[in-house]
Amino acid sequence: MSQSTPQKTLTASDIRARKTGEPLVCLTAYTTPVARLADTECDLVLVGDSVGMVLHGLPSTLGVTMEMMILHGRAVARGIERALMVVDMPFGSYEESPAQAFRNAARLMAETGAGAVKLEGGRHMAETIRFIVARGIPVMAHIGLTPQAVNAIGGYKVQGKGADGDRIREDARAVADAGAFSVVLEKVPAALADEITADIAIPTVGIGASAGCDGQILVIDDMLGLFDAFKPKFVKRYAHLAGDATDAIRAYAEEVRNRSFPAPEHVFADEKAGS
Ligand code: KIV
Repeated sequence: MSQSTPQKTLTASDIRARKTGEPLVCLTAYTTPVARLADTECDLVLVGDSVGMVLHGLPSTLGVTMEMMILHGRAVARGIERALMVVDMPFGSYEESPAQAFRNAARLMAETGAGAVKLEGGRHMAETIRFIVARGIPVMAHIGLTPQAVNAIGGYKVQGKGADGDRIREDARAVADAGAFSVVLEKVPAALADEITADIAIPTVGIGASAGCDGQILVIDDMLGLFDAFKPKFVKRYAHLAGDATDAIRAYAEEVRNRSFPAPEHVFADEKAGS
């Protein structure tokens, strides 16, 4: 008899139903071992297009392709048992038309096993979100700072300050009305994030937003201190793995150079000598 009950994988509806419940814990993952780690605590694991910058050394997310998202999506799926896995739609894969968006979202879902897709944009993407959702694909929206629009925005700036807050409020309402099951609020003033969270019926997931959001998300390599090319203010480092890795590599290099590695316990004796 099995000792453990199989885990139920969370769905977009389960995440949607957490609007007034315990805060949603969300992280990105791009590989199987990291997905396994994230899955132990997370409700939602995002295969973010941040993979382009974090793992592939790209200067922005604009060069990320469908093939990259599918490759990393498949890897992450192998590490997930409980969390909802969401895959980002890369730049250029959904903006042209609702039909283009559906075609690529369906491919991402079918080829990775994801439970939902995420796409960037507010009012101007509402028609597309409605179209995809009506055809069976759960959509997580992403408003405020939308990194795929970095060239149009003119940098990774806080969005929705002062009178500009109305634009973000309208975006939030538009994606919620269009049927998104949740919305990422990136880099918006905390008070605005709180207002939006109170205003719309779907969970808000903050990144550089507010502790009052219905959940939080971070790029896992940022919070582990593995990706330290730059550190936005909203990142809290819960570990310093890049520093640990540097120390380990330095120690290894020294031991190779002074011939103390490999030690006797790391090498094999001749068979005749019996070990
Ligand atoms: O690509 C990404 O990692 C994101 C963030 C919301 C974490 O979209």
